[in-house]
Amino acid sequence: MKKMMTIAVLAALLLAGCGSSAGDGGTRPAQTARSVGGAKSEGTVSSEESSEAAINEADEEDPSKTADVTAAEESAPAEESAASGILVAYFTPAENGENDAITSASRVSFSGEDMGNAEAMANVVAAYTGGDLFSIQTVKDYPLEYNALADEAKAEQDAGELPELATAVDISGYDTVFVVYPIWWYTMPQPIYSFFDKYDFSDKTIIPVTTHEGSGLADSVSSISALEPGAAVLDGFSVKGADVGGSSEDIEEWLNGLGYQGGIR
Ligand SMILES: Cc1cc2nc3c(=O)[nH]c(=O)nc-3n(C[C@H](O)[C@H](O)[C@H](O)COP(=O)(O)O)c2cc1C
Repeated sequence: MKKMMTIAVLAALLLAGCGSSAGDGGTRPAQTARSVGGAKSEGTVSSEESSEAAINEADEEDPSKTADVTAAEESAPAEESAASGILVAYFTPAENGENDAITSASRVSFSGEDMGNAEAMANVVAAYTGGDLFSIQTVKDYPLEYNALADEAKAEQDAGELPELATAVDISGYDTVFVVYPIWWYTMPQPIYSFFDKYDFSDKTIIPVTTHEGSGLADSVSSISALEPGAAVLDGFSVKGADVGGSSEDIEEWLNGLGYQGGIR
């Protein structure tokens, strides 16, 4: 019964958005956005853990190296971010899937690359604002087949699970943080809750950007405001899954309305 309800809800929600294909995004000239933070590694070692392991190893070999490694790690992201002060963090299941070969996760072609809808939108935001891209990734892999993903997402939402994150970023040099994600079950995916649980964005501005099949921003602004009471949370922007491929100009127009001029990088 639960399975049938799941399928019915998803069928209604995802009818237009599943497997959206190349739109304007596919013919868009390549724009590269700088990425920060560690990539998800094989297995379940987080980038923080692997950094710690590297530091510990250095410590054993030559204690003087420890200070160098630590200083470099602490100063590099802050120096990088000083350029724009803008972080564009995103989560998309396509970068968190357990099986790339058998997948029905939504994909869009952007700058000649297939990627999840949220990643494509994050690329547009980063390219236009000059912000640094950061992929929020989880230690656990999500199933990429829709029904299985729907069940998993619902189960972790019902349990209030905060999946452990596999990637980390030094947020100290950023004053504006765009957070881009798909709506899952009428709210933010649980990894986004993990992200807000992990970082304190007090005195920073958070701008939610979502992709969806009808829910828009859902409860994003109020949920983020509750999780980050010290931050200013702006109204944000959303694009329907099937429209993401052709949404670059709309996103840029919205960013322009926020005061961004584009062409920074
Ligand atoms: C588990 C799951 C739950 C979803 N729940 C909703 C929802 O409640 N409301 C909605 O409008 N879209 C919902 N969707 C649709 C996605 O938000 C939409 O397809 C989005 O474009 C996917 O972006 P992605 O390619 O980055 O995953 C859901 C999709 C999945 C996989």
